[in-house]
Amino acid sequence: MSTDDLPSTAAPDVEFISLSHLNPSTELHPVPSRGIDLAYFRRYVRSLEEGGYDYTLLPYGSGTADSFVTASAVGQLTERIKPIVALRPNTTLPTVAAQKLATLDQLTEGRAVVHLISGGSDAEQARQGDYLPKNKRYARTSEYIDLLRRSWSEPAAFSHDGEFYKFDDFGPGFAPYEQSIPISIGGQSDEAFGVGGAKADIFSFWGEPLADLRTEIDRVNAIARDAGRTTRPRIWVTFRPIIAQTDELAWRKAGEYVQRIAANFRTVRPQLQGTPQNVGSQRALAFANRSELYDRALWTRTAAVTNGAGASTALVGSPETVAAAILDYVDQGASLVSIRGYDTLADAVDYGRYVLPLVRQEIAHRKATGQRGTLQAEHPGNYAPEYAQFAGRS
Ligand SMILES: Cc1cc2nc3c(=O)[nH]c(=O)nc-3n(C[C@H](O)[C@H](O)[C@H](O)COP(=O)(O)O)c2cc1C
Repeated sequence: MSTDDLPSTAAPDVEFISLSHLNPSTELHPVPSRGIDLAYFRRYVRSLEEGGYDYTLLPYGSGTADSFVTASAVGQLTERIKPIVALRPNTTLPTVAAQKLATLDQLTEGRAVVHLISGGSDAEQARQGDYLPKNKRYARTSEYIDLLRRSWSEPAAFSHDGEFYKFDDFGPGFAPYEQSIPISIGGQSDEAFGVGGAKADIFSFWGEPLADLRTEIDRVNAIARDAGRTTRPRIWVTFRPIIAQTDELAWRKAGEYVQRIAANFRTVRPQLQGTPQNVGSQRALAFANRSELYDRALWTRTAAVTNGAGASTALVGSPETVAAAILDYVDQGASLVSIRGYDTLADAVDYGRYVLPLVRQEIAHRKATGQRGTLQAEHPGNYAPEYAQFAGRS
C-alpha cells in the first residue's frame, strides 16, 4: 500500500459537533454564575451554524439547564444545525422522552438526535433519586432504547411489562418528522459497549490515542456483528483543540492554558478529586499517566489537571496539524468529530474558519481521487523536541 492509499477502516465522510455553551464561563475564565446568558447563547449557536458545524450537544447534569429546553431553543435559533439532547433515562419515562424527542424533531424538521447517558457517578445519580448500580442503569438504558423506537414506530397501541418499565395501551405515539431519531450512547464501561454495540446508531468516545481507539472501535463492531446487526454504529470522538498560527505558537499557548486550567479547576471544582467512577474518565487519566503526548497532536496534560472530568484531551498545533490529526481519526473510522476549545466562542469561530475547511477539502479530494491528499504528510505535528519547553516538559 502506498502512503497515498486510504486504509480500509477510513470513514468516507465526517461531520462536526460542538458542545453548546450557555454563557461565557470557561475553564480559562470561570464566571461564578450557572445561568443562561441569552445574547451569548444566541451568538454561540449561530456561530456554530455559520462555521459549518453539523450538530451541537446540549449537555445534562443535575445542576445544569434542562437539555430538552435548550435543544428546542437551538432548533429555533438556527436553520440547519442538529441539536443533540443529552438524556439520562432516570429523569424521564421512555414514552414521555419519545414524545418530547418527536416534538423536537418535528419542530426542527428532522434535526433531533438523542445522546443517552446512563450515569457515571452514583452520587450524581442519587441527587435525582436514582439508586440503581451502574450495570443495572445500562440494562435500563437497553430497555429504554427499545421503548423509544417502539414509541416512534408502532402503528397501534401497545403494552409493555419489562424489568424497569410497565404500562398499558400506549400509542400510537407522536411520530418523529421522518421515521426515527438517531440514538447515541456515551460511556466506556463494558456495559456501555454491550448496549451501544448492540443497539445504538452512534457510539461516542472522548479523545484517545489512535491505537487505543482502534481497539475500541473493533470491539464495538464485533458486538454489533454478534448482535446480528447489518450496520455498525457511527463513531463519535471528542477533543479540546488548542490552535494557533503555527505549531510552535500553539504549544506556547497550551503551556500557558494548562496552568490556568489547573489553578481554576482546583478553585472551582475541588469536589472532583479522587478516582472517578466512570470508565471514560479513568481511561483519560490512565492515558495521561502513560504519556503526555501521543500520535500527531494528542495532549493529555489537560486531562491530568482536571481529573479526566468530561471531555479533556487536547489536540495541539496549527490548524493544518490539528486538521491532519482529525483525519488520522477519520482514517480509523470516526465519522463524527466533536471539537470544543477552552476559549469557547472564539475557538468555535476559529475552528470553523481554519480547521473544518481543511478537513472538508481533504475529504473532497479523497472522494474525487480515491487517494489521500498531502495534508497529513506535510504536517507531522508535535514530536519536535524543541516544543517540549512550551508544554512544560523540559
Ligand atoms: C461524548 C460524550 C458526552 C457525554 N455527555 C455527558 C453529559 O452531558 N452528561 C453526563 O452526565 N455525562 C456525559 N457523558 C459521560 C458518560 O456518558 C457517563 O459518564 C456514562 O454514562 C458512564 O460512564 P462509563 O460507562 O464510562 O463508566 C458523556 C460522555 C461522552 C463520551
